[in-house]
Amino acid sequence: MIEKINQYLQEIKTFDSTDPDKIEQLRIKYLGRKGLLNELFAEFKEVPKEEKPEVGKKINELKKEAQKKIEQLSRQAKQEGNKQKIDLTAPAKPYEPGSRHPISLIRKEIIDIFNRVGFTISEGPEIEDDWHVFTALNFPAEHPARDMQDTFFIQRSPDVVLRTHTSSVQVRVMKDNQPPIRTISPGRVFRNEAISARAHCIFHQVEGLYIDEDISFADLKQILLYFAQEMFGKETKIRFRPSYFPFTEPSAEMDISCTLCGGKGCNVCKYTGFLEILGCGMVDPNVLDNSDIDSSKYSGYAFGMGIERIAQLKYNVNDLRLYFENDIRFLDQFKSKF
Ligand code: DAH
Repeated sequence: MIEKINQYLQEIKTFDSTDPDKIEQLRIKYLGRKGLLNELFAEFKEVPKEEKPEVGKKINELKKEAQKKIEQLSRQAKQEGNKQKIDLTAPAKPYEPGSRHPISLIRKEIIDIFNRVGFTISEGPEIEDDWHVFTALNFPAEHPARDMQDTFFIQRSPDVVLRTHTSSVQVRVMKDNQPPIRTISPGRVFRNEAISARAHCIFHQVEGLYIDEDISFADLKQILLYFAQEMFGKETKIRFRPSYFPFTEPSAEMDISCTLCGGKGCNVCKYTGFLEILGCGMVDPNVLDNSDIDSSKYSGYAFGMGIERIAQLKYNVNDLRLYFENDIRFLDQFKSKF
């Protein structure tokens, strides 16, 4: 019997396969209900008493060997199986590249257009004091724009506000620099408005400023014609309407020929052929003086436009809220426009 057990031991020790089927066969052969070990235990009953200790020990040894071997090879087989599951030749999983926000795209386009003709970029704080937002810009003390309705106040007397326009950056740039000054200031602005399709409490503007000797309204018209045609196409026409801003004199609003009908009249331009896009004018001498620029020597123009407004015309987006909701279905549509 010892002889037979030694043969079995030999077979187990030399067994070397990680094929799961073969391992299972080995397990059934030795450890199965009708396997060799149970057979040996049955035979063990017949073994003469004096041989029992030796034979018993041998059977136990065989059992342990079989269990150890099967466990070890099963583990190995599992590891190899896991390895095979990683198919290195499989095509990579597609991943979604992000995209720029339409407001960022238009801001970049505006900046690029003005950079090409020598405008630098300047920025100012979103939380501003009353002086930079209103007083220095020639707002009369009781002007309605200072009213609680439009302005978010951070602090009262001295008043600190969320800037309601980027014109405040003009004042900072002029305070820090002497002419020639040629700069644009993109940024976020805030107004206490109920959110709707056509108004929002946060939006974006780009301010433009050019101060030097002998700057005239003709220079302003020329730069804005250049801008309109770069932004909306060479065939674009512009028109100026007299307007009022405290910080410019004279002041105007500029329209461009309708981006949809080209000026013939349609429901986008309400049959006027034109669309309003920005405010502008010659910087009021009071503003220059307030900002330490000699108004007897220098003059200049300024303009301000809403980025959402330009984006709305470029992309035909009719609801301002879409820009702030971060709905992937909306943002995805700008994916190709890097
Ligand atoms: N600050 C004005 C606004 O928020 C826009 C504007 C108008 C800016 C005329 C200017 C300007 O620089 O000259 O509506």
